[in-house]
Amino acid sequence: METLRHVVLLVHLVGFAMLFGGWVVELIGKRGINRVMHWGLAVAAVAGLALAAPWGIDYDMNYAKIGTKLVILIVIGALLGIGTGRARKSGSVPPVIFWLIGLLTLANAAIAVLWR
Ligand code: HEM
Repeated sequence: METLRHVVLLVHLVGFAMLFGGWVVELIGKRGINRVMHWGLAVAAVAGLALAAPWGIDYDMNYAKIGTKLVILIVIGALLGIGTGRARKSGSVPPVIFWLIGLLTLANAAIAVLWR
């Protein structure tokens, strides 16, 4: 069970890498939103929800931390949707939306690692 949990954590980290890596590619490029970012969010969300249940561990989970990460993920998802819509209409993603996506993704990783 513990090994399976570590595999799910690895998948969760792959999702994070896709979302943040996709964003960094855009940062040095067109500053838009790409499909890898959408997929990364979905992968991180599904694996994160699986990790939110207390299986394969022998310690108490920090549900305040997990709830905070879930809210931030929903906001990132909304920003990805709004940004994609705006890019379709006007040809570009508003800078505030673009920067919030990257900063909130980094914030969620920081919360995961630093909030103990
Ligand atoms: C963009 C969104 C997210 C990012 C960037 C992210 C990032 C991370 C990172 C870097 C870790 C590894 C931390 C460590 O093991 O020390 C982690 C672990 C974890 N994440 Fe996320 N996460 C995201 C969304 C979520 C969501 C939505 C949930 C649940 C609703 C969640 C639940 C968890 C749990 C429970 C762990 C700990 C796993 C364990 O130690 O067994 N994450 N996350």
